[in-house]
Amino acid sequence: MTTTEIYSVERGLFSAIVSSNRQIGGRFYKLKLEFSGSGAKAFSKFKPGQFAQLDLSTTALPEPSSIPEDLADASKRQILLRRPFSFTDVTMQKDKTIAELLYRVVGPATLRMTTLAAGDLLSVIGPLGNGFWIPKGKKTALLVTGGTGSPPVQYLAKILAAEHPNIEVLVFAGAKTQKELPFESILDQISQQLGFSVPEFAKFGVKSQLATDDGTAGYPGLVTDCVAQWLDKHNPARESTIIYGCGPEAMLARLTEIARDKNIDCQISMERMMACGFGVCQSCTVECKVDDSNETIYKLCCEDGPVFDSKEVVF
Ligand SMILES: Cc1cc2nc3c(=O)[nH]c(=O)nc-3n(C[C@H](O)[C@H](O)[C@H](O)COP(=O)(O)OP(=O)(O)OC[C@H]3O[C@@H](n4cnc5c(N)ncnc54)[C@H](O)[C@@H]3O)c2cc1C
Ligand code: FES
Repeated sequence: MTTTEIYSVERGLFSAIVSSNRQIGGRFYKLKLEFSGSGAKAFSKFKPGQFAQLDLSTTALPEPSSIPEDLADASKRQILLRRPFSFTDVTMQKDKTIAELLYRVVGPATLRMTTLAAGDLLSVIGPLGNGFWIPKGKKTALLVTGGTGSPPVQYLAKILAAEHPNIEVLVFAGAKTQKELPFESILDQISQQLGFSVPEFAKFGVKSQLATDDGTAGYPGLVTDCVAQWLDKHNPARESTIIYGCGPEAMLARLTEIARDKNIDCQISMERMMACGFGVCQSCTVECKVDDSNETIYKLCCEDGPVFDSKEVVF
């Protein structure tokens, strides 16, 4: 275990003030939360890959005319449970901690989130889960994201660039189509030829490659094919390479196969419905292998994860 894999024990229930909430394109929004007092202290230790549970039960719905047709029925559902979200960045400003969240509107809770405005209060439980860890001796880190899986990867890229300058970091970001890439913009052709496609990573000097299933941006095909091709071409030393993944389960399963075939370390952030987020309800099980046996056990995504060594997860 290194210092970057510390599990935060100072979690709790805190109140955050919304400092901004804006649409960055399509159904993607960026929300900024400000914590003070004990919340600022707890969230200052937030690690990439950890998450927080937000209470959106009393947040208002948008005007009916602003509700997309395909979410009209879902919008009527009550929000009984908190919803889990990662952060794309966490910074300290004097005695405050600012957490940035990227979300995609997919159902009643995220629809309600769009009406949050500066000054609103939000009840937040966290920091929760383990987060990514950075084993010693790594020189190359491939960060792979699919769909809305980019938030923890953005924060991880920042931490790697700032605290591990000896590690070369490359991001592979995939989506079905360009419009579903969860970024504010895409850099121009010249920047892409230089290896920089996404401003969110380029600002840390981190290279990024896009992939879209329909070929509307970057590599035409699955992001995992793009990663496999890169590995075949560059053949990095397996002991000093690590893959980090966050995205749909099918992407994580394929990434796990690629890592296994190349014998490369791989950590994946799993997604489960999470009723409590801290080990009480048992709703978030992940089937895991037991070392040196054919047996499997069920671990909790919220407490034992959401980040798992890919070798242990059963797909
Ligand atoms: C650890 C963790 C971190 C997350 N971080 C982010 C983030 O940074 N940004 C972001 O936009 N989303 C994130 N999510 C997903 C987010 O929690 C869900 O999109 C949100 O709860 C949807 O709520 P809703 O009421 O709007 O939609 P719902 O009606 O609850 O869900 C809409 C659809 O998405 C599916 N779904 C919702 N949540 C999950 C889940 N956890 N696992 C599998 N399928 C699910 C539902 O089955 C349904 O089909 C994260 C999830 C986890 C577990
Ligand atoms: S979400 Fe309740 S135990 Fe994991």
